[in-house]
Amino acid sequence: MTSRVLVTGAYRGIGAACALAFAAAGARVALADIRVPEKTAETAKSSGAAEVLSLACDVSDEAAVVALGRSVETAFGGLDVLVHCAGVIHEAPLLETPVADFDRVIAINLRGSFLIGKMAIGMMTGTEDAPARVVMIASDMAYYGRETFSPYVASKHGILGLVRSWAKEFAPRILANAICPGPIDTEMLGADNMSPEWRARELAIPLARFGKPEEVAELAVFLAGSGGRYFTGQGLGINGGSTMP
Ligand SMILES: NC(=O)c1ccc[n+]([C@@H]2O[C@H](COP(=O)([O-])OP(=O)(O)OC[C@H]3O[C@@H](n4cnc5c(N)ncnc54)[C@H](O)[C@@H]3O)[C@@H](O)[C@H]2O)c1
Repeated sequence: MTSRVLVTGAYRGIGAACALAFAAAGARVALADIRVPEKTAETAKSSGAAEVLSLACDVSDEAAVVALGRSVETAFGGLDVLVHCAGVIHEAPLLETPVADFDRVIAINLRGSFLIGKMAIGMMTGTEDAPARVVMIASDMAYYGRETFSPYVASKHGILGLVRSWAKEFAPRILANAICPGPIDTEMLGADNMSPEWRARELAIPLARFGKPEEVAELAVFLAGSGGRYFTGQGLGINGGSTMP
């Protein structure tokens, strides 16, 4: 059967690259984002997807996530793969971070991961022989702390907690893993706007370059395929050597 895949954060960046990679593999893809990912959907259609849905959803809003689940279930009758990429970054010194900013980052990155994961797992029909896959995009910051990013770092640590727990709760029917990217060249990273000093700091890693969203998408496709069948509860670094946990 052709895979039924839900990709969140599909409007741009890593989510858009994942959407197009699964489309190129001939999957049926449901693309969701707080902004309707219409452009990504158009490209996915011409890239070989068996079917494309383009849906608006704020992942931090429970009612919106439930409605997204209903749309996917109605169209696909279930789900084989979740790739959850929606997220936001936030940078500020702790003493200049109002609790509202902490709440917003946790609501989108962590509560959103809980809501989307719960909805997707609820409609997954995987079996031991053909397990469904949950792929959450965390960050290499899920493994360490970083000054001026504490709410973001905490949210990404939390995603690893969800994935490790779901891996145990749903084995062997569903395999749950996180991808922990290092610096990937997207608008979130904002490499074009970095000062030379900041850029140099980001590039002080063994491979000395930013990763590409397509490279993260290749890893998501791998985890969803037969090569990924013995991976569960893992955080997979794709980071040019930035972190060696
Ligand atoms: N770019 C990097 O260097 C990097 C590194 C590590 C981890 N990540 C993670 O990868 C994921 C994708 O990041 P990216 O670089 O592609 O960023 P991006 O900003 O280009 O894309 C994020 C997408 O999420 C969507 N989004 C934001 N809030 C949402 C909400 N409430 N509901 C639904 N969709 C929402 C945005 O509209 C956007 O399309 C994020 O979780 C990010 O934390 C990125």
